Amino acid sequence: MITDDNGYYFFRTIKPGPYPWGNSANAWRPAHIHFSIMGDGWAQRLITQSYFEGDPLIEQCPIAATIPSRDQVRSLIAQADTANDAPFDARAYRFDITLRGRRATFFENA
Ligand SMILES: [Fe+2]
Repeated sequence: MITDDNGYYFFRTIKPGPYPWGNSANAWRPAHIHFSIMGDGWAQRLITQSYFEGDPLIEQCPIAATIPSRDQVRSLIAQADTANDAPFDARAYRFDITLRGRRATFFENA
C-alpha cells in the first residue's frame, strides 16, 4: 500500500493469532503483523512488526526480549483505536511508524 499525502495508511484484515514456535515445548509468539516499509526502492527498506495492546504474550516473547529498551518494545505495540471501530463489525488499532528521532519505531534491520 502507499500512504496518503500526510503519511497515513489503513488496511483491513483479520487479526492474527499467536503461533507456536520451536524455542521450547510451549513457546508462543504474540499476535503480530510484519511490516516492510519501502522508500524509493528496495535499498530503502525498514522491517518491523507490530503487536497488539494488552497481549500478555509480548512480555514472554524471547524475540521481543532481544529489543534493547522498553520504550522500543512499546513503539511496536499497536493501540486500540476505538474511535475508528466499525460498530458490530470490526475493531481498529493504530500503529504509528516513526522513521527517525528519539521516538523512532524499532526496526529489525536498522
Ligand atoms: Fe511472524
